[in-house]
Order: sequence, then structure tokens, then C-alpha cells
Amino acid sequence: MSEPWMSVEQISEHLGVTRDSIYRWIDRKGLPAHRVGRLWKFKISEVDSWVCTGGADESNEETIVASSISMNEEVEARHGIVPEAGTIMKRCSIDLIKNLYKIPLPSARTGPLYNAFSYPTKISPEAIAVYIATHTEPGATVLDAFSGSGTTGIAALLCDRPTPEMNKIARAMGVSPKWGPRNVHLFEIGVLGSFVSRVLCHPPEPEAFERAVDELCLQAQKKLDWIYEAKDEAGQTAIFRHAIWSDVLVCPDCKMETSLWDGSVKTKPLEMSHSFCCAGCGKEVPVKSCERATEATVDSFGESHFTKKRVLARVYGRSGKMKWQRPPIKEDYELLAKIATMELPKSAPNVDIQWGELRRAGYHFGIDKLHHFYTKRNFIVMSTLMELVSTFPQDVSDALRLLVLSYNSSHSTLMTRVVLKKGQSDFVLTGSQSGVLYISGLPVEKNILEGVRRKSKAFIDSFQMLHGSQSQVLVHNTSSEAMPLQTGTVDYIFTDPPFGDYIPYAELNQINELWLGHTTDRSREVIVSPSQSKGVAEYGMMMGSVFKEIARVLKTDAMATVVFHSAHSEVWRALAQAYTTAGLAVEATSVLDKIQASFKQVISTVSVKGDPLLLLSKRQVERSKASPSAKIATDMISEARNCSTLDPQRLYSLFVGRCLELGYDVDMDAKTFYALVISEKPFSEA
Ligand SMILES: C[S@@+](CC[C@H](N)C(=O)[O-])C[C@H]1O[C@@H](n2cnc3c(N)ncnc32)[C@H](O)[C@@H]1O
Repeated sequence: MSEPWMSVEQISEHLGVTRDSIYRWIDRKGLPAHRVGRLWKFKISEVDSWVCTGGADESNEETIVASSISMNEEVEARHGIVPEAGTIMKRCSIDLIKNLYKIPLPSARTGPLYNAFSYPTKISPEAIAVYIATHTEPGATVLDAFSGSGTTGIAALLCDRPTPEMNKIARAMGVSPKWGPRNVHLFEIGVLGSFVSRVLCHPPEPEAFERAVDELCLQAQKKLDWIYEAKDEAGQTAIFRHAIWSDVLVCPDCKMETSLWDGSVKTKPLEMSHSFCCAGCGKEVPVKSCERATEATVDSFGESHFTKKRVLARVYGRSGKMKWQRPPIKEDYELLAKIATMELPKSAPNVDIQWGELRRAGYHFGIDKLHHFYTKRNFIVMSTLMELVSTFPQDVSDALRLLVLSYNSSHSTLMTRVVLKKGQSDFVLTGSQSGVLYISGLPVEKNILEGVRRKSKAFIDSFQMLHGSQSQVLVHNTSSEAMPLQTGTVDYIFTDPPFGDYIPYAELNQINELWLGHTTDRSREVIVSPSQSKGVAEYGMMMGSVFKEIARVLKTDAMATVVFHSAHSEVWRALAQAYTTAGLAVEATSVLDKIQASFKQVISTVSVKGDPLLLLSKRQVERSKASPSAKIATDMISEARNCSTLDPQRLYSLFVGRCLELGYDVDMDAKTFYALVISEKPFSEA
């Protein structure tokens, strides 16, 4: 059998050196390599004998000149760009920075800073900190034009307070960050995102915050101690941990009502069956064929309300240390009846939901106002907590408000769910689904007071990590289409723009913003959204305005790291058009490895694994008209054929990066790319 040809990636892995070294050695030291079309290919025996005869010995190299030759020469050659003599020193430091782009950026989705406030598509602040401190010197000015919950700001605070995790990432990536304070501008159109950023980037004194949390919980407990009571099986008063509610099914034949819980939940082993025997007509009825019952009732404000019927299905409690669960009993209904007659706190918000893309006819039936997302019990508790928080001193009140909100959208509403996990004898509690406003057929009502106290730990830990940092963060709650910053003043940008229609942030975040008293101005939100009459063209134009601003405020030699994710070629084209028109070009690409993909990334009809990461600089490049992306795709697929660790989803991210790096249009959707992968049959398991 003839010796197989190896790719640049494979040969660099074989020798344990970077791809840059391979390109440099081909160019300078005669590493035996062969052109196959556009690609370099290698015979391992030739390479090994070249190494053994001292070919890779660099002891006599002039290091500065050598480092000026990078893999980007191939890119530059394609664009007809020749590096100027005077840029050699600059190129040297650029090449060092480019180590950041040679291996995927690990972005762990753990730790107090990540967990304190969950915001869709968030990136680990520790990972961003390594980027900031490698790209810039202490004292530099950094910008995030789409800052969301302010992770770039948090990262800048961390630059002055490096953690062991950050040093670990830096070592893994082969870079030497310069830790120390930075000055950051964050731009975020969203009310929630900028509120979160302001609090987290200006953390209160941790001990004062901890004392305030104790006081808040005490005051709430005093007011509402009876609201989360439940009788245990011995008839003793115990703590209500949570309850599972249930939709009600209507038999298509006899119209008899059966709760989803009674109809489909089976114990020993725990499972959800797809059909049940109707107690009315005795027929086996598929759950799918049943309509969900609705009812005319009054809501928390006493207003008449036509909504989906939901009944109490299961109560979970705790007596001392012992946890228990049982079906609902008379005392539960008595407590609910007492709550139904209760007056709401004066400040409880009676506000409409502004629906856009996320409304679903089925599970959002009757959900028109904020309080419709809650049981009355939990709406009272949320309103009481928010009212109490406003009586606290300024230095802790916003942080307390954020703590309550951080629990709110994930756990306090009917969007909290249970899931069935293999091998578990009971349902597993989980928060709301990220990126949507989904209400399941078995929604959960949690004990908010217990939850908020538990959640406070992540906040206290975060404030301890951030408090005292000398970095300065300025949060601008305005559109980054027009930034009040002087031209040529920014040293580095790290940003992840909204990914087309991927997440309607303003619509989603209203569940928290309505508690803050004002919502996001959607007219300036950069998004693809039919309800806002914004298609890809409008999205591209808005993105174009932001990148024009990015190019204006960046210093001449400065760079921007952009994280982006889309399965749609038209969205990629809009992004590429935006930055090229602004006079920016791709210097290098990589992939952001979110360890554990976000829920949305997993369930998207066509998902893409690993978010492509682009390094942009102010370098005008003529964009190629004709894009040979099909050729690039086939080459990459055949290169990956022998590499079992690469999966098609990840390969698409790399493919996008390669096209953009070479200045070509991404004119292939993820779906078409996967079809190509299958037709080429390079991945036997795929
Ligand atoms: C992908 S998210 C950024 C997430 C962020 N990296 C974080 O740590 O949470 C994109 C953000 O851009 C914001 N955005 C959309 N249009 C904007 C505009 N015109 N100006 C500023 N921000 C905008 C959205 O509200 C959203 O929070």
C-alpha cells in the first residue's frame, strides 16, 4: 500500500509544532512538501528523514525575521498583498498574538462568574480575559460593541485579578498575557444586559452584600413565612420545596378531562406514556390527539382571564432534613384559596407582554401579561422581594435586584420544568429553556425564597473575585451604531454580535426588564425579525453601521476579535459585507469551544458546533467575486477524512473560518455542507 498524503494539520500534529512552523519551514528550510491543487501535502517518511538530518534545527535562526512569515502569507498571496519591509517588527508581535487563534478557545460554562447571571450565548470571562491581556498592554482601552451581560467588562476586571483558570488557558494557548487594569467601553442596546453589566462590573463590597442578602431573606420570610408551607405525611407543618402543575387533557371522544400527569406519568419505572385509558369512555387515547383544556378564571390582579387550565399534580417538601413528595391534599388547596384572595403588593407590575417571534399558540394560550407567567403565589413573592429590595441602601440595592432577577426568569416562572432522565426514579428539576419562553405541560412552581438564598452564593463569590480590580468599565445603554467615542482611541475590541434571527434578546429579556420598569427599544436592535420588519438586508445594514463605527474608533494598528455563529450563508455574507465595507479584513480565524453546547445550539434544526472566531484588522482587502467555497468544502472534507475527532458540525465552523480568511463569500449553508459530508462519506459514523 502506498504511503498516504498528510495535511498541514496532520503533519504539525505529528511533529508537535504549530502550523505556522510548518509553513515557515517549507518557505525557509526546505521542509519537503508538495502542492496538490491549492493545498500542501506531505509524505511522513520524507518529513521524518528531513528532521533526522537536522532540517528543523533552528539554533542559527534570526528569530525576528523568521516569525514574520506566517500562515497568513498564503492568504496574503491570494489577495496580492505583500508585507511591507517596515512591518516586520509589527508582524512579529502579530504572529505571537496569533497563537491565540491556532487552537480552539476553550470557553468553560462553569464557575460563579459564568453562573451568577445566565444570559444566552455568554462566553466565559476567563477566556476573554486571556484575549484582552494578550492583545493589549495594561492601561489600554477595550471595547465591546454588543456587550450583552457585560462579560468583556468582567474579563477586563479579571485582567487585574488573574485567576488560576486564566493562567491555565494562557498556558494551553501558548501566550503570555500582560495582566493589569484596562479601561473598557461596553455598548448594549438592551435594558437588562446593561443593568447586569453595570452591577457586575461595579461590584459591591462582598461582605456588605452578604449581610444585605441575609437581611432581605429575613424580611421576606417575616412577611411571607406561611406562603411556602406544606403539611408532611404525618400532618406536621413542613417546608414547601416545589410543586409540579399539570396541563389538562380533553378526551377527543367523550370530552372527559384528565390531567396530563394522571394520564401519562407512570412510576416504577418512571416514564411518560404516549396514551392513557380514558376514565370517561374507557378507550385508549393517544395524548397527542387530546386538546388541552382551557378555562375562564381571574388572574392575580382579579381581572377575568381566559387561559389554559393547569392543576396541581405533585407537592415536594422537606421536614427537617428529610425530603418528601406526595399528591396534593386538602391543605394545599386551602392554602391556594387563601393566596387567591390576597392583595398584591402595591408595586406589583400589571404590564403587557410584547410578543414577537417567541409566542406559540399552544403553550402561550392566555399569556398576555407578565403575571400570567407566574402562579399567584410566586408573583406575590417576586413583587414582595422587588419591593423590599428598593428599601436597601444604593450601594447594595441594585446588586440585590440583580440577584432576585437572576433567579426570576430561570426559576420563578411557570417556565421552570421537570425532565425525565434515564435511570432516575423521580423527575429532575431544571430551569427554563434558554433562548425561548417555553412553558411545558408539567410546569414547576419553585420556592423562590430558598432559591434566591442559594443563588446568592454565586454572587458573593463573583463579587469577591471582582471587587477591588483597578480596571474601569463604562456601560453605555445605547446602540453601537453611533458610539460617543473619539476616532482612533480604542486598542482592542472583543465582541459577539447578535447572530441573525438566532435569539430575540429584547423579547426574551422582557421577563426581567418589566420588573425593572422599562424595556428595550427594539427599533435599534440588530436582529433578523419578521415581527420587527427586519430581514437579512436590514440586519446587514445595521451591522454595517456598527462595523463602520468599530473601524472608526479603532487605532490604526488595533484589532478586533469577533465571535459569530450561524448555519446560514446569507447571515455570514451580511457579516462579511459589514466588516469589509468598513475597511476591516480577516487576519486569522479560530473556533470558540463552548464546553457543553447551549440548548439553542443543540436544538436548532441545523446546528453548528463551535462558534467561529475572527481576528479583524484595518486592512482593506478586495473581496473575491467568485467564491470557490464548494472546492474549499470538498478539500476540507477529504482532509478531515482520516481525522476521527472532527465532526461535520465543527467542520462547518472551520470551513466558514477558512472562507472568510481567504476573503471568499460563505455561499454554503450548514445544511448543504452536511449533505456534502454525507455524500462524500468521509465520516463512517456520521
Ligand atoms: C450575542 S449577544 C452578546 C452576549 C455577550 N457577549 C454577553 O457576555 O452576554 C449580542 C448582544 O447585542 C445586543 N445588541 C443588539 N443590537 C444592538 C445594538 N444596536 N447596539 C448594541 N447592542 C446591541 C443584544 O441585545 C445582545 O445582548
